[in-house]
Amino acid sequence: MSTTLFTDIASLVTNDVTLDKGLLGELNNAAFIEESGQIIWVGSSASAPSADSKVSLEGKSVIPGFVDSHAHLVFAGDRSLEFEARMSGRAYSVGGIMTTVRATREATDEELDQNIATQVVEMYRGGITTFETKGGYGLDVEHELRSLKLAVAHTEDVTFLGGHVVPEEYKGRADSYVDLVKGEMLEACAPYARWVDVFCDDGAFDYEQSKAILQAGIAAGLLPRIHANQLSQGRGVELAVELGCASADHCTHLSAKDIELLAGSNTVATLLPGAEFSTRSEYPDARRLVRAGVTVALATDCNPGSSYTSSMAFCIAVAVRDMHFTPEQALWSATLGGAKALQREDVGSIAIGKSADFVVLDAPSFRHIPYRPGVDLVVETFISGTSIYRSNK
Ligand code: NIG
Ligand code: FE
Repeated sequence: MSTTLFTDIASLVTNDVTLDKGLLGELNNAAFIEESGQIIWVGSSASAPSADSKVSLEGKSVIPGFVDSHAHLVFAGDRSLEFEARMSGRAYSVGGIMTTVRATREATDEELDQNIATQVVEMYRGGITTFETKGGYGLDVEHELRSLKLAVAHTEDVTFLGGHVVPEEYKGRADSYVDLVKGEMLEACAPYARWVDVFCDDGAFDYEQSKAILQAGIAAGLLPRIHANQLSQGRGVELAVELGCASADHCTHLSAKDIELLAGSNTVATLLPGAEFSTRSEYPDARRLVRAGVTVALATDCNPGSSYTSSMAFCIAVAVRDMHFTPEQALWSATLGGAKALQREDVGSIAIGKSADFVVLDAPSFRHIPYRPGVDLVVETFISGTSIYRSNK
């Protein structure tokens, strides 16, 4: 097997705390060696052993590929008018989800698959190398099943979200819809999913309904995660901790008790700055979570309604500016934090034995990501040591 040395890296974020270089294990004038898609050596350029081939990164910087632990990529249609109305003062509500459900049901398999592929290319261009995607815009057995069948071709982290909202044809019969989700829909979809998720919030599902859906998913062999406390200080986080969810996502409205519960659990709090940005909502304060010792991830929540961005760099910039993350915490949360939210041991860091998923930035260090908002700094993205995107800058 051949080895490749990547060297002359001005700043290399390893996320390896054993290096004793802070949270990010940041090395300067660094190098690493890749073999068969994995990292086999990390250190300084000066002490790098020889390899079969050598790539000089000429003073650029390298970070682990972003791990986007929360996205909704299986959809059709456009909700830019809804966004425009919101920017003129209309409040965000879960009602818009049905607009996407109608368009998604009407789309052909080819159209849906092409839409996913388009988002995935955008993600690669922006440095995301691992991503999760949910269904949730089918909301009947046929369309949730086809959503997940399409999604598995793109990622191993597929999530069953039949419990996104109660579709219009079940209006006034939420409990019957919950029975469908827990029953026939779950049975059809479970073979294609790793995760089960539910939107536990105002206008979506309450604590009891959410618990029933997640428990049914767990019984079917899926791992739980949850949309919690986005629109109100409800009981979503409480449920996440009670059921051992890998992650509680959104966490916009948290009580002191919620933070205490998260801190005493293995549940990751995943913050989604794109959602607050695009719904013009109040941002959660990451300092409360970090101070309490909660593990925090950052994700895009890429979806056509509340956060139509596939840019983790944008999310980091907003997280630093408006959620009070330090640049260091934000970078960690968007890489190793995301890996923890997805319970993935193989990605999120540049350390021996990890997948060689990394991003070359045209910048002296990762700090330029929030410092230069809206500027595309990605020169090249690698997955398992293979270049999957190279800018022509
Ligand atoms: O994560 N919160 C629920 N679901 C999505 C929004 C979906 C939509 O508006 O289409 C979210 O923000
Ligand atoms: Fe979401």
